Amino acid sequence: MVRNMLKINHQASKRSEGKEENEVLFALKTLKKEVQKEIEKTESLKELNEIFRKYLGKRQGILTQILRSLKEVSKQKRAKLGKEANELKNFLIIKFNKKAADLTEEIKKSTEEKEWIDITQPGEKPPLGHLHPLTLVKREIEAIFQSMGFSVVEGPEIENEWYNFDALNIPKDHPAREVLSLGKTFYLKGGGLIRSHTSPVQVRYMEKNNPPLRIIVPGKVFRSEATDASHETNFYHIEGLMVDKTVSAANFKAIIQKFLQEFFKKAVKIRLRPSYFPFVEPGFEVDMSCTVCAGKGCSACKHSGWIELMGAGMVHPNVLKNGKLNPKEWQGFAFGISLDRLTMMRYKISDIRLFHSGDLRFLYQF
Ligand code: FA5
Repeated sequence: MVRNMLKINHQASKRSEGKEENEVLFALKTLKKEVQKEIEKTESLKELNEIFRKYLGKRQGILTQILRSLKEVSKQKRAKLGKEANELKNFLIIKFNKKAADLTEEIKKSTEEKEWIDITQPGEKPPLGHLHPLTLVKREIEAIFQSMGFSVVEGPEIENEWYNFDALNIPKDHPAREVLSLGKTFYLKGGGLIRSHTSPVQVRYMEKNNPPLRIIVPGKVFRSEATDASHETNFYHIEGLMVDKTVSAANFKAIIQKFLQEFFKKAVKIRLRPSYFPFVEPGFEVDMSCTVCAGKGCSACKHSGWIELMGAGMVHPNVLKNGKLNPKEWQGFAFGISLDRLTMMRYKISDIRLFHSGDLRFLYQF
């Protein structure tokens, strides 16, 4: 509209200067109102910028054009009109700047509101795992034996034949020595093996420590065998060794009974069966009544009501000798408990293979 008025003004200039002056002044006044209104309505900096260009743009700006066209106006009028137009220009620039500052402030405020973060609020906790049932039980067992004066000791998972067999008085023709498909031991290429029990640590420890000795040795063991509800290829043993001047099988029975009572928090039925392990004499196997089925028979106890927990016996004199101890001076007992089977009994788990299944439905229960 203002633009049109200007055109009229130019034409008018040829007719009457006085009239022209009034019309230009009127046009500037109208322009002032129009621009102010537009500035007020504006909600974004982009829009404001467009309005600025529309009125004050270097080439096409309406006010810029008015200012430029003043050179066609007579000198007497030009000074007044020029002053008015320049004042309007400065006035508008202030208005534009003010609006730009207001909009910037608004944007800042709303961004701050939208993106506000309470850094004092506790973050969302990522789901955390927890200890595996075997670890929980291992720690509990360690604590019970420690309370009876036993130290917790570790040994290597990669062993040699001397410690895994020879030092333990296992004859060269013992079936446990046979390789993979025939026997139970995993041999390594280039010599050595992964231990099939934790008993090698008995000799390793005796070699380096003077009696009296009381240790337990928790650790992974490996056997090549078909798996079933109570057999795994990779499971855990807790070896026990006590050596002193007068240690007897009666001491062994008392300690194991005390241990099981502490562990299960009730008296547990156990039975000792004579058994053969080359590294003990006499040797026995310890069974406990199955807690999964309360002795009635289930897959975990092969429907016998009893579950075999450990091998044990009085340390063979040859083993003491290999551990650099004098069998005439020292004697002791040793045992090897299956941590997996004890954990099964503790939590009534009917299949050993669940431990390594990685099944979260199983693991979340502990
Ligand atoms: C031994 O390994 C002897 N070293 C234990 C020992 C130590 C005897 C000290 C005397 C003195 P055995 O092979 O029986 O023994 O294994 C010990 C226990 O491990 C068994 O009683 C049984 O509860 C458990 N066990 C044996 N094989 C497996 C298997 N494949 N999976 C899970 N548990 C097993």
